[in-house]
Amino acid sequence: MNREDFPMLNNNLIYLDNGATTLKPNVVINKIMEYYSSYSANAHRGDYDISLRVDNEYENTRDLVKKFINAASKNEIVFTSGTTESLNMIAFGFFKNYLEAGEEILLTKSEHASNILPWFKLAKDNQLKIKYIELDNNYEVSIENLVKEITPNTRVISLAGITNVLGDVRPLKDIIRIAHDNNILVVIDGAQCVPHMRVDVRNLDIDFLAFSAHKMCGPTGVGVLYGKEELLEKLEPHNLGGGMNESFDNLNEVYLKPLPTRLEAGTPNIAGVIGLGAAIEYINKLGIANIRKHELELGKYLFAELNNIRHITIVNKKPSSTIAFNVDGIFAQDVAVYLNKYNICVRAGNHCAKILKDETGVKNTVRISLYFYNTKEEINKLVELLKDKNKILEEML
Ligand code: ALA
Repeated sequence: MNREDFPMLNNNLIYLDNGATTLKPNVVINKIMEYYSSYSANAHRGDYDISLRVDNEYENTRDLVKKFINAASKNEIVFTSGTTESLNMIAFGFFKNYLEAGEEILLTKSEHASNILPWFKLAKDNQLKIKYIELDNNYEVSIENLVKEITPNTRVISLAGITNVLGDVRPLKDIIRIAHDNNILVVIDGAQCVPHMRVDVRNLDIDFLAFSAHKMCGPTGVGVLYGKEELLEKLEPHNLGGGMNESFDNLNEVYLKPLPTRLEAGTPNIAGVIGLGAAIEYINKLGIANIRKHELELGKYLFAELNNIRHITIVNKKPSSTIAFNVDGIFAQDVAVYLNKYNICVRAGNHCAKILKDETGVKNTVRISLYFYNTKEEINKLVELLKDKNKILEEML
């Protein structure tokens, strides 16, 4: 779909590393260039025309994000540098005060580092307990296994909506309903799901959500922290400075601005935010349901094709839009380097999900993560190159 919109695709590349970052369409690139060349000013500080235009564009993105995830208010949308910063703000700005010694944080072993390491530190600092929902035979979260881990001390569940290595989709509606029945708050790492499926925060009743622009056709260095307004009100800013305060005096009396500005200290990534707006408009035009349909069909095809190759072991138990595999007897990174010779970009390694191996028994894999601009022809080329193990071995030398 829409390959002509992506200048990177003119480079004779087969880009299959969309879990790491996606390519950017011309509308996003042009929107960023337009900001720097036509109205490059700071946000929320000026009284001149181009500065007011910046404010309008910046706030327009907030409105687009609000509608995209169906938040109740623009106050619930905070711009950050990305999923990692959003998750750190949630852990240290909110849960540091909310959780008491001995209470439990529930995670899974397939989480990405950004949804593990902040919780590890918080647990150490505040004497909290980390627990994991055991994955089922398909490496998925089942409601049965979730319920088994909940105790009266469980206060927060934090997990990805879609995981970054195996691409499994979590049953968020049921997880969140059960969590709330047990007085547990839920944090969703949306880095891999917001770009690929409709995430309606009100319908799902999500408490906190984090995601990044660059995995959804937007620029790097910008992301979103969503929180229900009553929860965000209690989130302490970790950055103090210009833009977020109403006033302060020499007696250390500081009055902060209301949400969401209070959580956006300093000059923000203006070009990034404006670029995110263009990315959302672009995705809206394509239709998120069409994006999902295309990538799932392609994932199914890829899964079947790889399954037919005797020397390939797929880690996924089911097709998905992200597939991790190994060529038997060949180190994953070597396979990636071999594919690179043919201009095919894939990721190899542990993909920052460093404890997933406890569940799958596999430390490193080659990962294909698809998006709407990938094609069956690209998959055919990949599969053709993987079919001949001798060729891989020869070319590795
Ligand atoms: N989380 C990103 C990935 O999975 C970086 O590749």
